[in-house]
Amino acid sequence: MTTIVSNPLKGKHIVLGLTGGIACYKAAELCRSLIRQEATVQVVMTDSACQFMTPVTMQALSGNTVYANQWDARIHNNMAHIELSRAAHAILIAPCSTDFIAKLAHGHCDDLLSALCVARPAQVPLLIAPAMNVEMWQKPATQRNIRQLIDDNVRILGPGEGDQACGEVGLGRMLEPDQLIAEMLAAFTPKSLAGKRVLITAGPTFEPIDPVRGLTNLSSGKMGYAIAQAAYEAGADVQLISGPTALNTPYGCIRHQVQTAQQMHDAVFDRISKQDIFISVAAVADWRITNVSKQKLKKNTGDDFPKLTFEQNPDILAEVAALSRPPYCVGFAAESENLIKYSTIKRLKKNIPLLVGNIAQNTFGLNQNEIVLFDDKGHHSLPLADKTNLARQLIIEISHRI
Ligand code: C5P
Repeated sequence: MTTIVSNPLKGKHIVLGLTGGIACYKAAELCRSLIRQEATVQVVMTDSACQFMTPVTMQALSGNTVYANQWDARIHNNMAHIELSRAAHAILIAPCSTDFIAKLAHGHCDDLLSALCVARPAQVPLLIAPAMNVEMWQKPATQRNIRQLIDDNVRILGPGEGDQACGEVGLGRMLEPDQLIAEMLAAFTPKSLAGKRVLITAGPTFEPIDPVRGLTNLSSGKMGYAIAQAAYEAGADVQLISGPTALNTPYGCIRHQVQTAQQMHDAVFDRISKQDIFISVAAVADWRITNVSKQKLKKNTGDDFPKLTFEQNPDILAEVAALSRPPYCVGFAAESENLIKYSTIKRLKKNIPLLVGNIAQNTFGLNQNEIVLFDDKGHHSLPLADKTNLARQLIIEISHRI
């Protein structure tokens, strides 16, 4: 049975609270990104936030009336704090200032945003993205308040570290909008892999011929990276071993960069004994060149072409599957024809419980894919969808099997 999953944020109503801080400018992008994820956004701003960003901007971006005043008579019953918090699936305060953290820690409610946080029903999660100067973040009072909020089940997102608008450097930067989106997606994903350690290989490998040339393939890494993100959303501790790609490390995952199949093999075996699940998505080169030239091969005229000699690369997945206590192994097969036949044979030959088959020319470099899952009960297809969506479906399929 195929489980159809949609984007975890689709249809979710998010109250996005802005408090006073220069990071308000990032809240504009965050609002758009939430809408791109098919959430609806109700913006609520404090007076100080209105000094940094006008409600008109947030109104235009969210498509909803922005509320900033506790006594706003536009809302039914004049009880904005009740109405707005009851409608929310989650409340996200981004940026969350030092002062607002202190207010939340002490249960103050002398403005609309703090009042609706205090008034929120128990099932509505409160997430905050602190944004402040490094000294303000490190002050004992702030840290005390953060500990109190953690005890009170408030999720603290970040802060990040780096250059600050004030010119100082350190902890206190608000997370970037894409990082906050990753956190929000994770917040709405059931934790089907909670506590599981997952190792994923992704992308192509690159086998050198000389210092500037090599053999590689058209794998973009998109499928493997999407699976890493989906595993993180599902609560796993994720490490990604990646060949050369142009992709950013998925939020929350640890990435180890490699180039050759042998390096990928070694990076996998350095970590494999501690893993619960191994997902081998990488398009690993089958052969490597034995006569790699130390210097760049020179172009000769005539037909004096370089003579390359090859040897077999290790089969990482087959070696992992052959361990005495292997993790749960998932392989991929990229075939150009006879997908069902070749994938069935490949799964049995590599001795793995689950293999994902796809047509190479329909996946390499693309954002969408169609996959077929092969296990000892047979096979079934997951229809054409974005790789992020397929990755989430695959993670659910894996979680049902481990
Ligand atoms: O043997 P073949 O390349 O067709 O199998 C594909 C599967 O095996 C993929 O999961 C791929 O990541 C893995 N593989 C591997 N090491 C290799 C070749 C493939 O782990 N040398």
